[in-house]
Amino acid sequence: MNGNFEYYNPTKLFFGDESLSFLKDELQNYGPVVLLNYGGGSVKRNGIYNQVVAILRDCGKTIVENAGVMSNPTLDKLREGIQIARDNKVDFILSLGGGSVCDYSKGVAASVFFDGDPWQTFYLNQQDPPKDQKILPIGCILTMAGTGSEMNGGSVITDAANTFKVGHVFDSRLMPKFAILNPKFTYTVPLDQMKAGIFDIMSHIMEQYFSDEDDNTSDYLSEGLMRSLIVSARKAVGNPQDYEARSNIMWTATWALNTLIGKGKTQDWMVHMIGHSIGAWTHAPHGYTLAAVSIPYYKYIMQGGLPKFARFAQTVWDVRPEGKTPEQIAAEGIEALKGWMQEIGLPLTISELGATEEMIPAITKGTITYKAGYGDLTPEDVTAILRQSL
Ligand code: NZQ
Ligand code: ZN
Repeated sequence: MNGNFEYYNPTKLFFGDESLSFLKDELQNYGPVVLLNYGGGSVKRNGIYNQVVAILRDCGKTIVENAGVMSNPTLDKLREGIQIARDNKVDFILSLGGGSVCDYSKGVAASVFFDGDPWQTFYLNQQDPPKDQKILPIGCILTMAGTGSEMNGGSVITDAANTFKVGHVFDSRLMPKFAILNPKFTYTVPLDQMKAGIFDIMSHIMEQYFSDEDDNTSDYLSEGLMRSLIVSARKAVGNPQDYEARSNIMWTATWALNTLIGKGKTQDWMVHMIGHSIGAWTHAPHGYTLAAVSIPYYKYIMQGGLPKFARFAQTVWDVRPEGKTPEQIAAEGIEALKGWMQEIGLPLTISELGATEEMIPAITKGTITYKAGYGDLTPEDVTAILRQSL
């Protein structure tokens, strides 16, 4: 296993269909004024909002509501939330929703006591708040599985005016203090969003897995998580109320992106870089933007990481190697991935998301490139991959 690294994750997890019962005790650790961030109303329709508000009231908290945190949250909405938090002198932020609300809550928590421009400093310059700055604590009640935001420092914001979406991974001060993961809360997630979340999880694992050539425990963990996800995704798409499948998916999502399986790895993340730019232009669900470019992308870089792609084929997809070249084995693995994506009904082209050939120069321009896992992509490479994804 290569590298020297630190592993530290301060987020306390409560998991299971009764996990909301832990909220009351947790809230005792924080001040009286709670900023309750939530999205466009799903939590009101499915009754989770009422359950949470009842607990907050029972604890004697003052609730400051900030509704309407949209999917792929915008910079304008971030600025609005910072102002609400400042005006109401909030002590604690409770994020009630999916990855978007959780990401957004981190942006607010980092910014309330920050003197400069959060967008410029945190997101464009990729800096963290000063070490001595006060940061509001966050708790997360997760209603959708996918991003891993519940146990990481990631926060992705879209500057809608400039059609630019960018994420910053904050240091551990911005990780949620606790996260409540009730798989039953995900039952009402629309099918499209559930499938997008499933592919987001798969992509997070592959982004970390497809890098380096050494024998690394992290890769074995990744393979196990992928195998579990493949099985559970099939079951959950067939029956969204399958608790076993939904609970496995939720737990896999958290471990796919809480930094563990990236340890000792250089990692890739180019699918996400391209996907974020597609998202800024199409507003498609995050996981769909990743699905639409993944097959062309992996075919494009396969030769650079051939042994890993051949291993992926055999250990994750049970491809038989006898009588085949490494290229054939690796290619079969990518085909198996594609077959699974078709089976669960994921988009395989960016056209399905509303992207057009004319948008490709702008999507390329909005894609951050760097020396990634097995490819050192240039903007010309990104353009080629996008063309193959049309
Ligand atoms: O807004 P509401 O009405 O709540 O509806 C949401 C939203 O429309 C709905 N939803 C969520 N839970 C539901 C539900 N509807 C019914 N029942 C429920 N239980 O689903 C829609 C999507 O929610 P959203 O939070 O946007 O999805 P997701 O969790 O996929 O988050 C996407 C955002 O996370 C970022 C993405 O870029 C995107 O902005 N990411 C964050 C990462 C991180 N923190 O590490 C990493 C990821 O790669 C990703 O970039
Ligand atoms: Zn993602």
